Amino acid sequence: SRSLSVGVLGAGTVGTQVIRLLTEQADDFAARSGARLEITGIAVRDLSAPRDPAVPAELLTDDATAVATGNDLVIELIGGIEPARTLILAAFKAGASVITGNKALIAAHGPELYAAAATAGTDFYYEAAVAGAIPVVYALRESMAGDRVTNVLGIVNGTTNYILDEMTTKGLSFDQALATAQELGYAEADPTADVDGLDAAAKAAIIASLAFHTRVGLDDVSVEGIRDITADDIREAQASGCQIKLLAIAQRREDEHARGVSVRVHPALVPADHPLASVHGAFNAVLVEAEAAGRLMFYGQGAGGAPTASAVLSDVVAAAAHRVHGGQAPRESCYARLPILGPEAA
Ligand code: NDP
Ligand code: HSE
Repeated sequence: SRSLSVGVLGAGTVGTQVIRLLTEQADDFAARSGARLEITGIAVRDLSAPRDPAVPAELLTDDATAVATGNDLVIELIGGIEPARTLILAAFKAGASVITGNKALIAAHGPELYAAAATAGTDFYYEAAVAGAIPVVYALRESMAGDRVTNVLGIVNGTTNYILDEMTTKGLSFDQALATAQELGYAEADPTADVDGLDAAAKAAIIASLAFHTRVGLDDVSVEGIRDITADDIREAQASGCQIKLLAIAQRREDEHARGVSVRVHPALVPADHPLASVHGAFNAVLVEAEAAGRLMFYGQGAGGAPTASAVLSDVVAAAAHRVHGGQAPRESCYARLPILGPEAA
């Protein structure tokens, strides 16, 4: 039977779980995608670092370029802008289909990456970039394609939701709660991206691009994080029957003041009976409002190795099946129809 080679860039929290599941469930992946998926190389930064036994030592290398350019499928789980961007561009040029969970990179360089994939005639998938295990990218791009989305409201950062929750329910300090979120593998390599709202803003930009069929970048999003939230703020919120949540809000505006797409991230008081108030720990939820469908809610684990690996692997199956069977790969959701209003309009 046919086989496809797979290169993995990064064997950290998410990469390790992707490698474990791809290896343990190899027969299932072969059946679902139509090809045996053989990992041929795993690029890391530090070859001497201790690794989970699920990561085959003989496949480790510090030559990330060779892994990016020598495989049919390339899974980028390094994070950050560089060298991830250069490696992904090299992978496209070498004809690979690329799968990533790198929202920071997509929010900053999405159009360049889509253009490179189109030029190379290959595919670009990023389900894991938004809300971990929850299939939000697929839902917005495919399932909602027959409707007119008006609003998206979400808790899309597990680290900050976990921190706010631990401060609320256990009275932990901000620093204690952050340290636990890091231990549990929810936080970014540099957790300031979580705490200052930038991770949520990158996801909000991706959500808005998909929901409104336009191009929203990180600079278009108005951002405020949770660094200044105190224990007193949390007590006051509770006393008024509310919870503080870091919300990502993307809206289609067609009023007398503005017509376009407005996107913002900020802490908000959420009444206890609102659906988003019951989203606890590192769970995420995305509430979508559309003209015909009305309100939909997507809920699940938004961070952590195995939940995120589930999303990465859904893309691996889609990318492999597309290479084997052909058909329509995901297209860029970009008709540049509605203007982006920018942070000042939020
Ligand atoms: P980690 O920091 O745990 O892992 C990063 C991996 O990349 C490590 O194995 C590291 O090597 C390797 N690496 C770093 N720099 C280089 C380099 N220059 N060349 C080769 N390898 C390199 O990150 P995560 O697994 O948490 O996240 C990976 C991606 O997934 C990020 O884009 C993140 O935003 C995204 N993501 C993460 C989620 C989570 O819950 N953690 C959820 C959703 C998305 P070494 O091990 O040697 O240091
Ligand atoms: N650091 C991110 C979070 C990982 O806490 O939500 C998932 O994208």
